[in-house]
Amino acid sequence: MTSANTLTSKPRILTGDTPTGTLHLGHWVGSVKRRVELQSSHECYFLIANMHAFTTRAEQAADIRRDSIEIVRDYLAMGIDPTLSAIFLQSEVPAIAELTFLFAMLLPFNRVMRNPTLKDEIKIKGLGETYSFGFPLYAVGQTADILAFRPVGVPVGEDQIPHLEMTREVARRFNQIFCGVSEHTEDADHVRLGGTFPVPRADVGAVGRLMGIDGINKMSKSLGNAIFIADTPKDVQKKVGKIFTGRQSPTDPGDVNNALFQFVDAFITDSARVAELKDRYARGDNIGDGHVKVEVAEALNALLEPMRERRRQYEGNDDVVIDILRDGCRRANLVAEETLALAKDAAKLGYFARRLTIG
Ligand code: TRP
Repeated sequence: MTSANTLTSKPRILTGDTPTGTLHLGHWVGSVKRRVELQSSHECYFLIANMHAFTTRAEQAADIRRDSIEIVRDYLAMGIDPTLSAIFLQSEVPAIAELTFLFAMLLPFNRVMRNPTLKDEIKIKGLGETYSFGFPLYAVGQTADILAFRPVGVPVGEDQIPHLEMTREVARRFNQIFCGVSEHTEDADHVRLGGTFPVPRADVGAVGRLMGIDGINKMSKSLGNAIFIADTPKDVQKKVGKIFTGRQSPTDPGDVNNALFQFVDAFITDSARVAELKDRYARGDNIGDGHVKVEVAEALNALLEPMRERRRQYEGNDDVVIDILRDGCRRANLVAEETLALAKDAAKLGYFARRLTIG
């Protein structure tokens, strides 16, 4: 028998991350925290987008493999429970690649190239004109990552919204051309009216875009402004100490919308204390950045300590992580194969059944 997960009637969600290194607080507030909250009430699938990592790092295959294992450790550290949620590798769910090919026919080429997240990446990563064909294809692939699981929702950070919009377009178009769903159908009615795919919504966390410690850009490993889940208490103190506000003196009226106060809002759990800090800071009531930073660092370390502790249990042993991925891939394939069979039937590509096995 298979894991109970795929047999539940809980609403299904899927989300994922490209393995680029260890996870940071931006991942936590933007998406992972939400996943931990949802994992007992939802059937959860968490994808490691290791094929997407090849779009810009094909010559770093060994690093991609290492990052894929490390990201699982971070998930586990942050509280994702592998008995509840399936954590799996994109590269071991072949239905995703097959759906990508089919979905590529449903999106105009220029529509893909207009995706603002792709355009931003080309700019930020300095890809110029030299990016691989696979680079824009990853955006089509992401629609397949999602729709292979026919989820109701996708917990993501704000920057992923354009990908979700494209996913919704693919779902509508597929249902229209292969399932006879009319183009005037409301998104919520697609499945009830015979569509293969639900039109999934983006479920954006309370803090869609956490600033980095430079106080200017979104927190990101490549910009060197991130606080990592695995940072030591000392590192956390030092990094928080660097959060840039531009404020001069404890008696200057301060801006409570600055990066430092985004951290106060996101991580200090005592709301009365948050209100008090904001009030005094705004009035310049003799409260310096240094003081606020001490409280932020304490709050962060209180959050991170149990994560560091859990992470230690999984360090030094890749086999435990591989076993978790094997089980996650098995569970993910049950759903993705079922979806692929439904999609192939709808597209008149269903000739006979097949069965996948995982070693
Ligand atoms: N593009 C996402 C990122 O870079 C990762 C990702 C791949 C994803 N497939 C997904 C996110 C499907 C949500 C759903 O973070």
